[in-house]
Amino acid sequence: IDELIAEGVTGKRVFVRADLNVPLSGTTITDDGRIRAVQPTVEKLVAAGARVVVASHLGRPKGAPDPAFSLAPAAARLGELIGAEVAFATDTVGESARAAVAALGNGEVAVIENLRFNPGETSKDDAERGAFADQLAELADLYVGDGFGAVHRKHASVFDLPARLPHAAGDLIATEVGVLKKLTENVARPYAVVLGGSKVSDKLGVIDHLLERADRILIGGGMAYTFLKAQGHEVGSSLLQEDQIPAVLEYLGRAEDKGVEFVLPVDVVVSEQFPDLKAKAPTEHRTVPADAMPAGFIGLDNGPETNKLYAAKLADAATVFWNGPMGVFEHPDYAEGTRAVAQALVDSSGFSVVGGGDSAAAVRTLGFDENAFGHISTGGGASLEYLEGKTLPGLAALED
Ligand code: 3PG
Repeated sequence: IDELIAEGVTGKRVFVRADLNVPLSGTTITDDGRIRAVQPTVEKLVAAGARVVVASHLGRPKGAPDPAFSLAPAAARLGELIGAEVAFATDTVGESARAAVAALGNGEVAVIENLRFNPGETSKDDAERGAFADQLAELADLYVGDGFGAVHRKHASVFDLPARLPHAAGDLIATEVGVLKKLTENVARPYAVVLGGSKVSDKLGVIDHLLERADRILIGGGMAYTFLKAQGHEVGSSLLQEDQIPAVLEYLGRAEDKGVEFVLPVDVVVSEQFPDLKAKAPTEHRTVPADAMPAGFIGLDNGPETNKLYAAKLADAATVFWNGPMGVFEHPDYAEGTRAVAQALVDSSGFSVVGGGDSAAAVRTLGFDENAFGHISTGGGASLEYLEGKTLPGLAALED
């Protein structure tokens, strides 16, 4: 972006593809980390006198306007953060967007509505995506890619639009890629990885890749139950992906051959019911050994022995990558496992990277100081796919 600015952006319309996909409760933003992450790029362009058009997706609307997924709250928050008025267009490439962009003065900012309100954004059809990118291109003279969380998506605003305009990477993308390189090139060892979240199937590629690189892989969250089941333990009514058991067994076998340590929960917190995440009322729950889960109970968090074990496995790691919560951290009865991993990262002297929208939001909502971590990535799927060594469309588009 600095080169682009040096070439002169004053008075130019600069399209900033951000990732403002923030968690919302109604219209209240519950974690504004992704908006703050793009702030430096927006402020640089404002200071250079550009006419800044910020665009993003939010959630997964079905290719048509849906008020539940409006970017209006994110636009308002961006305005508060940069301390300036931010115009908001109620469509993406229609009259409102064109008028908002035309009205921009030098150093002013407009946010256009959720890109996914237009079916062309996510279309698998190159021509349909291209047609939407053509319309977006009419709104701008230059393109800055800074939505790191979406670079793994081959979407119109991420992949097709930069081919149509002179382009550069923003500061957020540059920082994220710089950090992830430290996890893929000359990694400082021991290299420990903590993986959580609900589904094993989301993590297959990254586990496959990490088996060649990591020294220890710690598993938690909903996906742990498929591992425990694969080891022959009963998991009650916990989340289970039976169809992934063969893959899990293959990983466990390969880990042994390669000397990679797989660490699974030794105790878990269970309840007969999934908690109400809105009311957050106290629940009936208990801790049981991971190899003796009672029938009918759901595993909802790592237990205290597991928390101690994981803290010990992370204490001497020189590099740690963590993606996915260890339990249903949104409820206070099941937040300890996630809190314990976050605390272990804070206490460790190694370089720690927290990857993923959920884990990043978890550490902030649990009250941790984000500066206590080496890096908190704004990308969940994007950081996992980067670690897998995949070509990410949104990065490839900025490279030429
Ligand atoms: C994310 O939240 O990981 C990014 O914003 C991408 O969102 P998506 O998975 O809906 O494409």
